[in-house]
Amino acid sequence: MEQTVGAKLLLLWVICCGHGRVGGLSGYTKVIEVTNGGPWGDWAWPEMCPDGFFSSGFSIKVEPPQGIQGDDTALNGIRLHCAGGNAELNTHVVESQSGRWGVWSEPLWCPDGSFLVAFSLRVEPPMTPGDNTAANNVRFRCSDGTELEGPGQTWGDFGNWSEPCPKGLCGLQIKIERPRGLRDDTAVNDVRFFCCLS
Ligand SMILES: *[C@@H]1O[C@H](CO)[C@@H](O)[C@H](O)[C@H]1NC(C)=O
Repeated sequence: MEQTVGAKLLLLWVICCGHGRVGGLSGYTKVIEVTNGGPWGDWAWPEMCPDGFFSSGFSIKVEPPQGIQGDDTALNGIRLHCAGGNAELNTHVVESQSGRWGVWSEPLWCPDGSFLVAFSLRVEPPMTPGDNTAANNVRFRCSDGTELEGPGQTWGDFGNWSEPCPKGLCGLQIKIERPRGLRDDTAVNDVRFFCCLS
């Protein structure tokens, strides 16, 4: 059942939106993941930088702390800023699905034309009962070795780094929990990125 729905969604995505890279998702060579993502939510659609573009920067959407009575969700979105050469530093932004809470940060950039190649996710482990937030922040490593840490929340811990992309990140897919009304919300739980070679 789940397989069938997933396949249909992928087909729909390729028909509707897969014009960024030739043949939709066929331009990627590898998926990089981490093992500490949160348990809630569903994988949204993937989004890819245009052909020949790589991600050289990112920004995140973060909800500020909601206080003792409030329902914290922390990380609500991740954007990749795609670069296609010096003249085109920030012409394309991809984000998969994002949550409704919080505000987007200013982008952080890899230096000297380097690309994002690996990531680590800060995740709050599930608490019962409790105000769960799941993913709180993300860190990236650039191809020149620089590490960039987002201005996220501080609940939970950073997990192990993903494997690195051979050249650079060129797309992402977010796992996000839909709004649950009066029940506890967590927004972004996990993310995977796509590597491209050209
Ligand atoms: C994280 O990396 C360490 C060292 O490679 C390894 O021992 C550990 O099992 C990893 N943790 C997870 C959750 O994969």
